[in-house]
Amino acid sequence: MAVGGIPCDSRKNYAGKFTCKVIFACVVAASGGLIFGYDLGISGGVTSMDPFLQKFFPKVYRKEISVQPSDDQYSSRITRGLGRKVTMMFGGLLFAFGAIINGFAANLLMLIFGRVLLGFGIGFANQSVPIYLSEIAPFKYRGALNMMFQMSITIGILVANLLNYFTAKIEGGRGWRISLGGAVVPGLIFFLGCFFLSDSPNSLLERNKYEEAKDMLRRIRGIYNVDEEFKDLAKASEAAKLVQSPWRDILSRKYRPQLTFAILIPLFQQLTGMNVFVFYAPVLFKSMGFGNNASLMSALITSIVNSCATLVSIATVDKYGRRTLFLLGGLQMFVCQAVMTISIASKFGSSGSPGQLPLWFSAIVVVAMCIYIAGFAYSWGPLGWLVPSEIFPLEIRSAAQSITVAVNMIFTFAIAQVFTAMLCNLKFGLFIFFAICVVGMSIFIYKLLPETKGVPIEEMALVWKNHPYWTKFVVDKSSSLVMGKLELII
Ligand code: BGC
Repeated sequence: MAVGGIPCDSRKNYAGKFTCKVIFACVVAASGGLIFGYDLGISGGVTSMDPFLQKFFPKVYRKEISVQPSDDQYSSRITRGLGRKVTMMFGGLLFAFGAIINGFAANLLMLIFGRVLLGFGIGFANQSVPIYLSEIAPFKYRGALNMMFQMSITIGILVANLLNYFTAKIEGGRGWRISLGGAVVPGLIFFLGCFFLSDSPNSLLERNKYEEAKDMLRRIRGIYNVDEEFKDLAKASEAAKLVQSPWRDILSRKYRPQLTFAILIPLFQQLTGMNVFVFYAPVLFKSMGFGNNASLMSALITSIVNSCATLVSIATVDKYGRRTLFLLGGLQMFVCQAVMTISIASKFGSSGSPGQLPLWFSAIVVVAMCIYIAGFAYSWGPLGWLVPSEIFPLEIRSAAQSITVAVNMIFTFAIAQVFTAMLCNLKFGLFIFFAICVVGMSIFIYKLLPETKGVPIEEMALVWKNHPYWTKFVVDKSSSLVMGKLELII
């Protein structure tokens, strides 16, 4: 048997078309990624602008701020109780308010308060957008449509880097206000866009809106007879209602596979080391002897590579599957990390002093870095959001996604904090550390992740059942209580 379990192209073949309505809804919802990307991209640049540091952190001149409060319990409750749409709107609105406060910040308190709102905004968006996308997408295109979220993240990073490049040059030291305040734009795009969205059928069913749910399903599938799919959604929703306390239930044995991936996928995504490049590309390039302007340019180049390579995953994920991309991306990142380690070790040694760097050396490092980023951008980047959003059953979906978001944020923060200390102590060994992590996570995926391509989201129980390891955790959920209630609904 394949280690990924039986390839699980489901027996289901729900009727429906690939409608403009679903594409529009996905594009709008995915724009939620812009706020996350913008925030990731802007912070590194702004906290290296001297006027900003002088105003707010005169004592910790070189230290970074990164206040990302953990709001994930809240966003999960809101998503479950009020629906994905309202949660997304909250996300956009809070982010926009935070941006305005930061743009006008007159003191540290305003700055921190603004960042708290940004943190909440991102938490709400990341909690609801990936699951909204996975819920409304026709299952055969779920991978591609969900990955538009990652596409937006990369566009957000790119725009933020471009903006920083120009605002850093503004005379009078007020450029940082434009960079921070500019976050209002992606916040409003997302917030206003959400007005035109309807909630997902799954989320409407969760709140007992049966007619609305069926109507929405008809509209996004572009056909009248959606009975087969609706029946499965309703069944999942009834099963979900039997669960009173998702936060407690998620700890039970039957959800062990989902809980494992909810925690490990975002953790491993961060242990690829990608954010070292997102946050510190200019610093890294500078410390390798590239000039100041070249450092900023490098940040732009790496963000362009990041965006372009994401398109590759959009084009291939529903054809070749999640496992293939995870494993190929892992291999690509590993090779590049090895090349970077050898090149840097050969020039810097452990003393950290390279002398005059030859052009060929710089070229090797830049190319290896770009190929590494491309490897991340078509694998762990988008899949780190896609896979969790499609494997959680409805009853624990909101809670589990909150765990994924929280783990992602905590480790994004941790890597940002410890990176400079790690670089100083480990030197080129830093890349060895990440390379070892990439090997470990690739083995984990190879052995334990079942393929989820082509499986309807509410049929996902099948993949665990067919997996050689996870099958022992599976419990048959078709209780007569659920079946009985269903008869009344359909
Ligand atoms: C990750 C971020 C990362 C970004 C880079 C996202 O999927 O969650 O931590 O900075 O990809 O494109």
